[in-house]
Amino acid sequence: MSTPFYITTPIYYVNAKPHLGHAYTTLVADVVTRFHDMCGCETFFLTGTDEHGDKIVQAAEKEGLEPREYVDNISGLFRALWPELNISNSDFIRTTDAGHIAVVKHILQKIYDDGDIYFSEYEGLYCFGCERFYTERELVDGKCPDHEVAPDIVKEANYFFKMSRYQEWLIDHIKNNPEFIRPKRYRNEVLAFLSEPLEDLCISRPKSRITWGITLPFDEEYVTYVWFDALLNYISALGYPDGERFKKYWPVAQHIVAKDILKPHGIYWPIMLKAAGIPVYKHLNVHGYWNVDQSKMSKSLGNVVEPLQLKNVYGLDAFRYFLMREMAFGLDSSFNEEALVHRINADLANDLGNLVSRVTAMIHRYFNGLVPAFHPEFKDTPDIDVRQQAAVAVKAFEANMQGFAFHKATMAIWVFVGRLNKYIDLKAPWVLAKNPSALGELESVMYNLLEGIRIISGLIYPVMPQTAATIQNQLGLNPDAGPFFRLDRLKSWGETATGNRVEKSTPLFPRIELRSDAHEQKAVTKGPKLKPQISFDEFGKLDLRVATVLKAEAIPKSKKLLKLEVDMGEIRTIVAGISQSYEPKDIIGRQVIVVANLKPAKLMGVESNGMVLAAVDQQGASIAAPGRKVAPGTPVS
Ligand code: ME8
Ligand code: MG
Repeated sequence: MSTPFYITTPIYYVNAKPHLGHAYTTLVADVVTRFHDMCGCETFFLTGTDEHGDKIVQAAEKEGLEPREYVDNISGLFRALWPELNISNSDFIRTTDAGHIAVVKHILQKIYDDGDIYFSEYEGLYCFGCERFYTERELVDGKCPDHEVAPDIVKEANYFFKMSRYQEWLIDHIKNNPEFIRPKRYRNEVLAFLSEPLEDLCISRPKSRITWGITLPFDEEYVTYVWFDALLNYISALGYPDGERFKKYWPVAQHIVAKDILKPHGIYWPIMLKAAGIPVYKHLNVHGYWNVDQSKMSKSLGNVVEPLQLKNVYGLDAFRYFLMREMAFGLDSSFNEEALVHRINADLANDLGNLVSRVTAMIHRYFNGLVPAFHPEFKDTPDIDVRQQAAVAVKAFEANMQGFAFHKATMAIWVFVGRLNKYIDLKAPWVLAKNPSALGELESVMYNLLEGIRIISGLIYPVMPQTAATIQNQLGLNPDAGPFFRLDRLKSWGETATGNRVEKSTPLFPRIELRSDAHEQKAVTKGPKLKPQISFDEFGKLDLRVATVLKAEAIPKSKKLLKLEVDMGEIRTIVAGISQSYEPKDIIGRQVIVVANLKPAKLMGVESNGMVLAAVDQQGASIAAPGRKVAPGTPVS
């Protein structure tokens, strides 16, 4: 039996509805869980909601509700969203659950009894949005970097957790375990923070200020700080201290968070565990932000994208694919709906969808819909050996999934999709089919294609589970053979049984247009509408060349036009509408890209033999040029 696998998402605050950022983290957790299912591991995947603290009380007041009623409502929205996104969480924890509250009290008492919690007066800068005190040096222009508001000065007698006592231990632990916090940039960030003396953490709030929280077991007058409560969900949900699940899964615990909550997870949490005598987690996996127009997408900034809306317009698996393909885990990404549409049309409708429909159609045309015989004796040359290429894809997929490089894992699958499409073009089954003596080769080619698609259907399973199952059904794979997506089955060749019936496929992903109202939704999209797609052949009709500008002069009476003499292997005259952005002297000697085979046209009496390419926005024209100097006439493709 492989090692068990335990993954958590942050438990989300219930002060606002879920948005794309929450959906992304939870999707990552789902994808890695499904990947570990492929590997045959026992998995446990935890998500839930964080329901105590000032923030929640304030949000409830705004709605005119009691906190209890309010948290039930919003927690319900998160809980209901996950099945809609095909999220396979094993449990959903709420910090208002009785079992969780008991664990929080137990740990508080334990740490208090051990002498790591003390009582003291404190005055500090407090951000109500973050529910924590800030030090001066953490503020940006005197404001909380996350909420962009100045913190309040709050003075209270409170309980403090002696974090400073564990600072050296934590530094050593991080240094001795390079993969403890990953990717590396976040490990370095935590180490940088730890290079300054660590302040003790205020872990109580007086009931005179807030009562919505867990009462301290050793002082009735206080509730505990929401982070001290929330972080413990990761063990309370497993039935700490005696539960079987705790014993099985805690030793392999991994968390996923975005960088906004790196400090509580990278510093408070390991120190809390250490102080409570519990082994620390194995990995903290930290991702970047989904941004909109350069700002973090967040409920406080009000620029959120709703996951359900996107799912409803574009389909669930397309939405899941896009999020995983577009963001390099660890770095920020900009959300852009046009990019989503482009990915769906290019990767899903074109590359994958066409592959499956071409192959299944040919199986019907040549073999009445039945899987042909496997001919291991027909060996392809290494450059087109799809069996070999499948092995390469599976290996890259596995390594990148292990390393949380989901965009690379999906890219590896699509490289293989491309190889299979190319294999069809090179082998031209329609030619083989005309030649009765090539029957064996035709069978071999078509069998290889079906095997390739079978492997793809397994590789896409973590990201696109529904599509994976649809393809598997189309291939008529035998469900009795065990889960088709198991990694070991993707490493073998020849699993598709000869004689199986293959369904003719309906398109897996219809091509889509950007929805017409997308531009009005500022939070959802930007940039001008894309033109309809063209085929590769249509693109191939363009003859684009690099040209060097030899002479340039303004055309009298024209506001926009410059007459250029260019060298593109031959000397030509081209008229370009760039005089509002370029003086003739600015452009002489520069290289430009021209459409060389545009039919000649007369502009203000001058015959133009081609067109210069430029980006044009409100500021004017900016000419397109090669990245380095090349010979005049060099084709651009
Ligand atoms: O911090 N981009 O809850 P929260 C990417 N309750 N991910 C984003 C995101 C964005 N723009 N916005 C939010 C809390 N997220 C605490 C956690 S855990 C013991 C307590 C995701 O509702 C990301 O995972 O503010 C981020 O860390 C989390 O939502 C913050 O959720
Ligand atoms: Mg937040």
